[in-house]
Amino acid sequence: MPIGQYLLWSGVVLWLITRFGSWLRPVVPEPFRAAVAAQLWWDSLRFSSDGFVVRNLPLHAPRAGIVLHSRADFTKLLRPAMASVSKKESQSEMIIRIFQVGDHEAIAEIFTRAIHEIASEDYTLEQCLAWSDRQPNPKHWEQRCQKKKPFVAVIGGRIAGFLELDPDGHIDCAYSHPEFARQGVMTALVHHARRVAEEAGTRRMWVEASICARPLFEKCGFVVQRENLVDLGGVELINYWMELRLIGETQSSPSCES
Ligand SMILES: CC(C)(COP(=O)(O)OP(=O)(O)OC[C@H]1O[C@@H](n2cnc3c(N)ncnc32)[C@H](O)[C@@H]1OP(=O)(O)O)[C@@H](O)C(=O)NCCC(=O)NCCS
Repeated sequence: MPIGQYLLWSGVVLWLITRFGSWLRPVVPEPFRAAVAAQLWWDSLRFSSDGFVVRNLPLHAPRAGIVLHSRADFTKLLRPAMASVSKKESQSEMIIRIFQVGDHEAIAEIFTRAIHEIASEDYTLEQCLAWSDRQPNPKHWEQRCQKKKPFVAVIGGRIAGFLELDPDGHIDCAYSHPEFARQGVMTALVHHARRVAEEAGTRRMWVEASICARPLFEKCGFVVQRENLVDLGGVELINYWMELRLIGETQSSPSCES
C-alpha cells in the first residue's frame, strides 16, 4: 500500500478511535473498547486494494446495534448498488442463445421468482399464486422448453432471463431473474426476438404484457391495443394486448433500446 494511503487511513482510524471512545462508552465496557480500538488500528494497517472492509473483528456490539460485517456480507449489502453501477458492464457480457438441454431448471426458477419477487409488486398474492406455484416446476418446464425452444440471456454463465417467440410473432413467456432485474436483460431478449422475427419475414409481433412488463414493451416500440381481464382458475388478472408492426412500418417502430 502506498505510504500516502497508509497515512490517510491511519489518520481516519485514529480519528474514529477518538470518537468511538465516547460513542461506545455507554454500551461497551472499558476493556472491550480497548480491544475494538486495537483491532481497528490493526485493520487500518492491513487495508489494501481489496477495499475498505473491517475484517475479523473479535468483538461485536449488538447491544449498541453495531454489527461488524464480514467481507461477504459487505458484498451482499452492496450488490444492489453494484448492480446498477455495472449495468453497462453486464450488458456487454450478456450472451443470447437458444435454449439448451438442461436450461429448464434455471428457467423454472426464474419463472417462479420473477412472479413472486417482481410481479408481486403489481399483483396480489392471490393473483401471483394463481399465476405460479411458489415451488418451481422443472418437469413442466423441461417439456415446455423442448416445444417452445426459448431464447435465453446468459450473464457470467448464469441464465438471467428467457423469452419464448412463436413462429407467428407471438411473445409468449418473457421473464427475467430478479437478481438481474433492470439490467437490460429483457430489452436485449426482445431486441433479439425482433431481429429473428424480421429475418423470418414476420409482419408483426404481439404480447400479452403484464402490468410490470408494459413499460418495457412500450420502450421497445410495442403499442397497447387493449386491456385484457384474464381468468386463471377463477382469479382475474389484468394484462395488456400489445403489438409491434414490423414490415412496412419500420420507421415508426423505434429500435429496442433501454
Ligand atoms: C418485466 C420483466 C420481464 C422486465 O425484465 P428486465 O430484464 O428487468 O427489463 P429491462 O432491464 O430490459 O427493463 C427495461 C426497461 O423496462 C422498464 N421496466 C422493466 N421492469 C420494470 C418494472 N418491474 N416496472 C416498471 N418498469 C419496468 C423500465 O423502463 C426499464 O428501464 P430502466 O431500468 O432503465 O428504468 C421482469 O421484470 C419480469 O420478469 N417481471 C415479472 C414477470 C412478468 O411480468 N413477465 C412479463 C410477462 S409478459
